[in-house]
Amino acid sequence: MLGVFDSGVGGISVLQHLRKLLPNERFLYYGDSANAPYGSRTTEEVRQLTLAAAEKLTSEYPVKALVIACNTATAAAVQQVRQQYPDLIVIGIEPALKVAADHFPGGRIGVMATEVTLREEKFDTLVHRFEKECTIAKIPAPGLVQKIESGKTDCEETEALLREILADHIGKLDALVLGCTHYPFAAAAIGRILGENTAILDGGEGTARETRRRLMEKDLLRSGEGCVQMENSSGDPQRIALSMELLG
Ligand code: DGL
Repeated sequence: MLGVFDSGVGGISVLQHLRKLLPNERFLYYGDSANAPYGSRTTEEVRQLTLAAAEKLTSEYPVKALVIACNTATAAAVQQVRQQYPDLIVIGIEPALKVAADHFPGGRIGVMATEVTLREEKFDTLVHRFEKECTIAKIPAPGLVQKIESGKTDCEETEALLREILADHIGKLDALVLGCTHYPFAAAAIGRILGENTAILDGGEGTARETRRRLMEKDLLRSGEGCVQMENSSGDPQRIALSMELLG
C-alpha cells in the first residue's frame, strides 16, 4: 500500500497523477483537514502534525512508501520523517521551480505557496539555485486553502480572492508555479486571471514520477487491480465525499 498524506484535500491533486502513473497500486489517502491549514502554523507545529500523520499511516497500514503530498509539510518536516523511518521510502514535494526555469530561461516566474513554505530554508535554497537565471516573485495566498477545503474551487468568491492575490502580477509572469497542492484545484480561475501568456505549473506529475522511480528501484511495483481508500481526520463524511469528487 502507498500512503499519501496532506494537510487536507490538496494532496488529491498529486494522487491524481500517482493513480495515472501507478494504476496497479493500492493508495491510502490521509487528509488532516481537522488541523488544516498548516501553512499559517509554526514550523514546529507542522513538524509535529506531520510526524503524527506518518506514525498513524505506518502503524495502521502496511505502507511500503509514504508520499508527503504537501509542500508545507515537506518543507517543515521531510527530514525528520526520514530520520524517524529510515527503512521507509519517503517522497516529498517542492515547488516546481526547476521545471519553470528549464522552460523559461531568463523568465519571470511567480511561486505561489503557503507562508511556511515561502519562509523555510528549503525554499530559500531552491530560490538561490535559480535566481541567477530567472526573476522570482514569492506570492503568498492567504485564505485560498480554506476555500478549496470547503469545496469552493471554481466560483466567484474564489476568483475574487485570487484577483486580489495576483493583482500585482497580471501580465508580468511567464510562469506561475503552484507551490501548494491545494492550488491546482483553482487552476481554472487562476488561468482566467493571468491569461494564456502565463504557464501554470505544479509539482504533482514530477512527484508521481519520482515515486514510480523509487518503487521500481526496489522492485516494489505491484500488479493486479489498484484502488484508493480515503481517510480524513475531520471524520466528516462530506469531506470524504469532496475528496472523491476532487479525485474525479
Ligand atoms: N497543501 C499544502 C501544501 O502543499 C498546504 C495547505 C495548508 O496550508 O494546509 O503546501
